[in-house]
Amino acid sequence: MKKIIVFASGSGSNAENIIKHFAKTKIAKVVSVFTNNASAKVIERAKNHQIPVEIFSKTELLERNLLQKIQEIDPDLIVLAGFLLKFPDHIIEQYPHKIINIHPALLPNYGGKGMYGMHIHRAIVNNKEKETGISIHYVNEHYDEGGIIFQKNVLLTEEDTPETVAEKIHELEQKYFPEIISRLLEG
Ligand code: GAR
Repeated sequence: MKKIIVFASGSGSNAENIIKHFAKTKIAKVVSVFTNNASAKVIERAKNHQIPVEIFSKTELLERNLLQKIQEIDPDLIVLAGFLLKFPDHIIEQYPHKIINIHPALLPNYGGKGMYGMHIHRAIVNNKEKETGISIHYVNEHYDEGGIIFQKNVLLTEEDTPETVAEKIHELEQKYFPEIISRLLEG
C-alpha cells in the first residue's frame, strides 16, 4: 500500500476527495494531511476520516523538523491540493518527481505568485477567455513551472462569472485529480 501526504491551506475539497477515493482502493492511502492554516476547513475534513493532521507555521515549513516528519512517513507521493505557500527547495530536492500540484488554470497561462483560486477565475472572466481548465504538474523550485502531467480544458460562455468558472474547475478537479494520482502511483 503506497503512502500519500496531502498539503492544503484552505477548504480541502480536493484533499477530502483524494482521501475518499483512496480509502476505497488498495493502491494507496492518504496517511497524513499537512496544513499551514490552523483554521482551515481541511482539518475538520481530514479528522472526519481519521486522518492525522500536521499543522505548521510558515517558518516551520522552512525548518529541518518538518522535513524529518515527512521522512518518518516516507511517502510515495506528496500532493499539493490548494496549498498556497511556496514549497521549500530543500524538501523538493529530497523528493524528485514525487511532489505534484493542481493548478486551476491552463498553465503556463494564469500561473505564478498571487495567481490562485478566485483571483484566477476573476482574471479569466475579465479577460473574456473562451476556455480555462486544470493543470496537474510536478513541483519544482519555481511557482507553477514544473513539468505538466495532465491538463483538461472546459469551455466558457459570455454568461460565465468567476463563481460559475470556479464550479466548472471544481468539477474537473474532483473528476480527474484522484485518477491522475492513481496513474502516477501505478505507473
Ligand atoms: C483548488 O481549486 C486548487 O486548484 C487551487 O485552490 C483550490 C483549493 O480548493 N489551487 C491553487 O490556486 C494553487 N495555485 P480546495 O481547498 O477546496 O481543494
